Amino acid sequence: MKRNILITGGAGFIGSHVVRLFVNKYPDYHIVNLDKLTYAGNLANLKDIEDRPNYTFIKADIVDFEAMRRIMDEHGIDGIIHLAAESHVDRSIKDPFTFARTNVMGTLSLLQAAKEYWETLPEKYDGKRFYHISTDEVYGALELTNPEGIESPFTTAASSEHHHAYGTEFFLETTKYNPHSPYSASKASSDHFVRAYHDTYGMPTIVTNCSNNYGPYQFPEKLIPLFINNIRHRKPLPVYGKGENVRDWLYVEDHARAIDLIFHKGTIAETYNIGGFNEWKNIDIIKVIIKTVDRLLGNPEGYSDELITYVTDRLGHDMRYAIDSRKLQKELGWEPSLQFEEGIERTVRWYLDHQDWMDNISSGDYERYYEEMYKER
Ligand code: NAD
Ligand code: DAU
Repeated sequence: MKRNILITGGAGFIGSHVVRLFVNKYPDYHIVNLDKLTYAGNLANLKDIEDRPNYTFIKADIVDFEAMRRIMDEHGIDGIIHLAAESHVDRSIKDPFTFARTNVMGTLSLLQAAKEYWETLPEKYDGKRFYHISTDEVYGALELTNPEGIESPFTTAASSEHHHAYGTEFFLETTKYNPHSPYSASKASSDHFVRAYHDTYGMPTIVTNCSNNYGPYQFPEKLIPLFINNIRHRKPLPVYGKGENVRDWLYVEDHARAIDLIFHKGTIAETYNIGGFNEWKNIDIIKVIIKTVDRLLGNPEGYSDELITYVTDRLGHDMRYAIDSRKLQKELGWEPSLQFEEGIERTVRWYLDHQDWMDNISSGDYERYYEEMYKER
């Protein structure tokens, strides 16, 4: 079947994996990648597919309603996968306005453009989809009731060999929204707008909330690529607070596969949580990264441990995220494909083998952005 799919934020980390998957898997679809190319957007992420006949790139800002409306019309868009966003919590602490602008106003502008375009068509919303990609951070923070970790009651192929849960509660699709950072507040707001467009106008929307992603092409201000790069260059590894915060990690290609499945098979107006039951304390994941980088660089074991530097904690730092993704597994049969130990090995190798990609980004000034926020303690 021919389709015209608009993917926003396709030059970013997760978006580039989704664009690549769709361009390769669906030669009959026309994939329109719309991205403003902020500091986080990088067309080098898509070099391998940029010349494909079923792919078009458009540089545009989602906040620009007139442009969104025109693009809907010009490309006859019948499906939208919306990933474009400001995505880094630390930046949101420093510059919340940009997050409200892009994440809230940008999402609203895209919703309204889709609504106006689809309502001009004879079939209206039939066969259309507005799929909004959100985050587990909208649910707030869970308590660390088991700081040493207990055997997790749930498991998937993504779960680590050290299969821990650090509390008894998990985020469900029904968990009340309780965002704490300007980033998560802006994402929560955008989720509400998406659902409001379904409830008010009947727009066929879907929302998914995913846990922390890791893998190739992630901008190196985020924990995993930042630390791999810093170890390589023997720079300090800034651990916020005590390093005890817990995150639930999923390999980015497994997220992209979930997005593909949900876009095609998900039920309109539903929410699906996406995660692999793979909780890690920051300090433990940092130790795994150090060990893996040292081994692959031929350094003696423990060589880079001295780079660990405890710094000021992130303001409002959420303690624990843990996603319950059983609905997605049961209803749509999704399973992650990659166990964490293999995923992290693959990821570290990728960054070490793509130093040119990293150097192009590292030449920018993003590193100075956080200088005054995080001081050694
Ligand atoms: P990213 O920061 O790597 O990429 C964001 C992309 O959006 C960039 O290419 C950027 O240029 C583009 N963009 C930003 N503002 C724009 C604007 N005004 N108009 C058009 N394009 C714009 O982000 P990511 O980590 O790939 O996250 C993608 C989406 O997934 C976001 O919505 C994020 O909230 C969500 N998410 C991320 C994670 C994660 O772990 N990274 C987990 C769950 C959900
Ligand atoms: O949970 C999903 C979210 O995961 C996404 O919605 C966000 O877009 C994405 O950025 C990510 O948010 P986090 O804040 O969890 O990711 P980050 O990589 O910034 O940090 C992971 C953890 O590591 C967090 O507890 C803060 C800590 N950290 C981070 C950095 C960059 C450090 O200790 N030191 C650091 O230098």
